[in-house]
Amino acid sequence: MLRSIIKGVGSCVPDKILSNEDLLKIVDTSDDWIVSRTGIKERRIADKNTKTSDIATEASKKALEMANMEPCDIDLIIIGTVTPDMIFPATSCIVQNNLGIKKAAAFDISAGCAGFIYSLSVADSFIKSGQFKNALVIGVDVLSRITDYTDRSTCVLFGDGGGALVLSADNGESGRGILSTHIHSEGGHDDILKLPAGGSNIPASAESVNNREHYIKMKGSELFKYAVNYLKDVAQEAIKYNNLNSEDIDLFVPHQANTRIIEATAKKLGFPMEKVFVDVYKYGNTSSGSIPLALDEAYRSGRIKQGDIVLVDAIGAGLTWASAMIKW
Ligand SMILES: CC(C)(COP(=O)(O)OP(=O)(O)OC[C@H]1O[C@@H](n2cnc3c(N)ncnc32)[C@H](O)[C@@H]1OP(=O)(O)O)[C@@H](O)C(=O)NCCC(=O)NCCS
Repeated sequence: MLRSIIKGVGSCVPDKILSNEDLLKIVDTSDDWIVSRTGIKERRIADKNTKTSDIATEASKKALEMANMEPCDIDLIIIGTVTPDMIFPATSCIVQNNLGIKKAAAFDISAGCAGFIYSLSVADSFIKSGQFKNALVIGVDVLSRITDYTDRSTCVLFGDGGGALVLSADNGESGRGILSTHIHSEGGHDDILKLPAGGSNIPASAESVNNREHYIKMKGSELFKYAVNYLKDVAQEAIKYNNLNSEDIDLFVPHQANTRIIEATAKKLGFPMEKVFVDVYKYGNTSSGSIPLALDEAYRSGRIKQGDIVLVDAIGAGLTWASAMIKW
């Protein structure tokens, strides 16, 4: 049976660091409040010339290099993002052109912070069906463009960055690859996380700009409760589906939203923190960028080795939530 295996991984973050100390000069907050509530110490911010497609392109080049593949080998590109360069064309088409790839299918997926795992799930299904052989699966966001730096309850949380995987068809004999994906959604929660304007509901106008409706609106404490429970549920779903136990997982890589959510989820799942990857303290929440960025860091720092079983999960606007079990 065909299976998709990870041949390459890469990531990219902007150089500019926005520290908690920098934020103190902008909003009424404190390093102590931010670190105790979120674990975040700093985040990366793209300069005004850097677009989502630029970060995606750089991450993809690194993933292709590791895979020892040429751009022309890719026949599918999927990007999970909520901050596309433009509403259309899809950012994946821009990345395709940047990389000089011809004719590969390319489209974006909007699934909030779960966008990367949704993209992975779709690419995995295509590869297992035999329709495509080599996919670039990308998760990237430039949240600084939709973050309201006058709103202290949200602006301390978010950062920019992303990563990419090269996923390739394999005959499955090695046992490696994507073992499962589970994706879920539950509409009706746009009151707790949304970007109100810029779509067909509230098109851009002087009024929408004056009302600051082109920025993220979030009710953090309400979202927190859903996050811990749904991240736990979808991780357990993956563990059960694969007939595994928590002890079989070598590394748990949850969505990097904040350390309190990560620690609470890990505790419910019975994972000691040594088995949990955390880099939110230096990047903040990069939405769809968070999982592939963390996977790249984990792999390149030796936390993931070939043959390891890695569980990833994420939750985001929608609500959407998802998991993937990977034998690396
Ligand atoms: C956002 C989050 C850190 C806030 O923590 P919290 O404990 O829920 O805090 P609350 O929102 O209840 O606010 C508590 C107080 O802190 C204040 N506050 C909010 N942001 C602050 C900041 N940056 N600095 C200082 N005080 C702040 C609030 O005004 C409130 O003050 P009040 O009690 O006087 O009204 C937390 O809710 C969270 O992590 N939620 C999940 C968010 C998330 O991860 N979203 C993305 C998921 S994809």
